Amino acid sequence: MATETTQIKSESTQAGLPFDIRGALYLSPMAGLTDHPYRVIAKRLGADVLITEFASAKALLLGVEKQEERVFFTPEERPVGVQIFGADPTDMAAAAHLLEVRVQPDFVDINFGCPARKIVDKNGGSGLLRDPALMEEIVAAVVAATKLPVTAKMRIGWERDTAESTTIKLARALERGGACAVAVHGRSRNQGYSGSADWDRIRAVAEAVTVPVIGNGDIDSPQAARRALDESGVDALMIGRGAVGNPWIFRDIKSYLQSGEEPPRPTAAERIAVIEEHLRIALEMGDDEARCIREMRRHAAAYIKGMPGAAKLRARLFELESAEAIRSLFRSFLGATKEGNG
Ligand SMILES: Cc1cc2nc3c(=O)[nH]c(=O)nc-3n(C[C@H](O)[C@H](O)[C@H](O)COP(=O)(O)O)c2cc1C
Repeated sequence: MATETTQIKSESTQAGLPFDIRGALYLSPMAGLTDHPYRVIAKRLGADVLITEFASAKALLLGVEKQEERVFFTPEERPVGVQIFGADPTDMAAAAHLLEVRVQPDFVDINFGCPARKIVDKNGGSGLLRDPALMEEIVAAVVAATKLPVTAKMRIGWERDTAESTTIKLARALERGGACAVAVHGRSRNQGYSGSADWDRIRAVAEAVTVPVIGNGDIDSPQAARRALDESGVDALMIGRGAVGNPWIFRDIKSYLQSGEEPPRPTAAERIAVIEEHLRIALEMGDDEARCIREMRRHAAAYIKGMPGAAKLRARLFELESAEAIRSLFRSFLGATKEGNG
């Protein structure tokens, strides 16, 4: 493997991102949530850039099926990045090369943010925030192994208390390694997903590095997006939990940034049309129906959250086992609601 990486190195000339990053709205990668159907839905509703759920470099190299599924995407998703994680520069380089040969994403993104213990214990994800030199080495190895542009996604540091002195060091390590853009989630590893994202730290990164910076954390409304852009000086925004069940957020943010107006909230009929489309895309992938339905349910529950009649609809949705039964449930639900007919 080492020989292969060395050989690849001499051939690699990293390209820039094949899209205009200024003002771009990214859908955050979220394992278990931002699967292929959801990414397509988000894209159709205004997300500019997508990233697949993180995949283990080591497992990709071993051909583990579940990880291979994670890097699947369709042309409609472009520009799309594939995200990998791992602590070994050689594995990361080989995985990036494999992705270039096999799936040709528009860019490779490296995960330096996952706080999960089982990842951190092996020094992957946010575990690497304790070792900027190794972060740099990993990015450099990946950049050397592929012609694809390489980006990286980090948190502000390992601990919130020391982030003041570490965030910029970490971002500069990524830049020196050759990342052509850096996404910063404004929380430290020890915060997990608690507290609030520190946009001052994100701003500090935007001021300190010359590559484009993508700001991430707590953008859950068009107003929050406006504030983030105004106050941080980032080039692009990345939206995660604010888009769960609400892929309309991308459309809403774009409209608000352009005109100060927000489109009306989606009607019941629009929400159900999105669920039906989500299911159709999932089935089109050729997976078995039971699995598609299982995975679609948690999205469906989020899409209809807060809608009149949602609780009953959700309960029925969790009982039904076939796509046809689900479609007919929606037809009768819409037939019975005034809003749905409108
Ligand atoms: C369920 C879940 C899964 C996540 N999976 C990933 C992942 O695979 N890769 C990654 O870089 N970040 C992952 N994240 C972090 C998000 O991409 C994002 O950085 C974080 O949620 C903060 O953004 P938000 O406040 O807009 O949600 C995940 C977050 C959640 C809630």
